Amino acid sequence: MSTTMDATKISQQDDLWKNMELGLISDEEVRRLMKIGIQKRIKWGTKPTQQEQLAQLLDFNKSLRGMKMATEIDTLENHKIYETPDSFNQILGGKESAGLFTDETTTTIEEANTKMMDLYCERAGLKDGHSILDLGCGAGLLVLHLAKKYIKSKITGVTNTSSHKEYILEQCKNLNLSNVEIILADVTTVDIESTFDRVFVIGLIEHMKNFELFLRKYQNG
Ligand SMILES: C[S@@+](CC[C@H](N)C(=O)[O-])C[C@H]1O[C@@H](n2cnc3c(N)ncnc32)[C@H](O)[C@@H]1O
Repeated sequence: MSTTMDATKISQQDDLWKNMELGLISDEEVRRLMKIGIQKRIKWGTKPTQQEQLAQLLDFNKSLRGMKMATEIDTLENHKIYETPDSFNQILGGKESAGLFTDETTTTIEEANTKMMDLYCERAGLKDGHSILDLGCGAGLLVLHLAKKYIKSKITGVTNTSSHKEYILEQCKNLNLSNVEIILADVTTVDIESTFDRVFVIGLIEHMKNFELFLRKYQNG
C-alpha cells in the first residue's frame, strides 16, 4: 500500500519538475509551493521544548547512521538536479559556491566567491605542489581557482554531473590549465586509487545520508 503511495508521489513530483522545467508553472505557484515545503520542514524540525528538540536531533542522527551512504536521488544514474544546459553554465560561470562578504568593500559575487575560496585555502594550509581532491566539485569554481593559484598542484574534481565536467574542461582549455582532472562518478561508489594531501568537501555532505560511511570511505589511506 505504502509502496504504491510512494510511487504515485514520486511520479507526481517528477511531473511537477518536468512542468516547472517547461515553464508551465508560474513563478507565483513555484513560490507558493516552496513556502509550503519550507513551512512543513520548519514544523517538522521545531519542537516545543529543548528536551524534545534534542531528542529529535538524536533520533535523526541515529536514523542517518542506519541508512545507506546516500539515497538513490543522489547517485549518478538518478541525479538530475545539477544537470544544467551549457548555455546556463556559461551564464553562471561556475558561480554556485559560497561567498564571503567581509565588509562594505566586498560588493560583487565574484569578490565574495574569491574571498571565500582564499579562506578555504588558508584554513586548509594549502601549499603549491599539494595534490588536491575536490569531492562534489560542482561547476568547478574552486577547482579552477586552485588550478590557477597553485600551478604545481594537481587538482582532481569529482562530480556526478556530466555538463559540469564538460564545462570545467572547456574552461581549462580556454585558460591553458593542464593540472586538472575531472572524474565523472558517484562519490559513494567511485574507487580513487591515488591519495591526496588535501580533500575539499563543499556543499556535498548535504547530499549524503550516512556521514559516517562517507567519512570512513575518504579517511586517510
Ligand atoms: C551544492 S553543490 C556544491 C558544488 C561545489 N562544491 C561548490 O561549492 O560550488 C553539490 C555538488 O555535489 C555533486 N554531487 C551530489 N551528490 C553527488 C554524488 N553522489 N557523487 C558525486 N557528486 C555529487 C553535485 O553534482 C553538485 O555539483
